Amino acid sequence: PFVLRLLRSGREVAVPAGRSALACLQEAGVDIESSCEVGVCGTCMTRVRGGEADHRDSYLTTAERAACFLPCVSRAATPVLSVDL
Ligand code: FES
Repeated sequence: PFVLRLLRSGREVAVPAGRSALACLQEAGVDIESSCEVGVCGTCMTRVRGGEADHRDSYLTTAERAACFLPCVSRAATPVLSVDL
């Protein structure tokens, strides 16, 4: 489990084990586009501003991984992940 800190709204969204970050964001009413939901299309790409992502996609390049994550499949390696949403 981890917390997504949404820097634009100042809100926090909890992501329990077994649920995707994307699903939790959408359930919280956050406007985020998605398509494949399995980490291959890049549609849900979200910029990370703080904390560290646990990347589980097969789409992002190494350079992109340093700055972004794909919330449909990826998780956080830190208790809090601050994102540009
Ligand atoms: Fe396709 Fe997330 S929706 S990578």
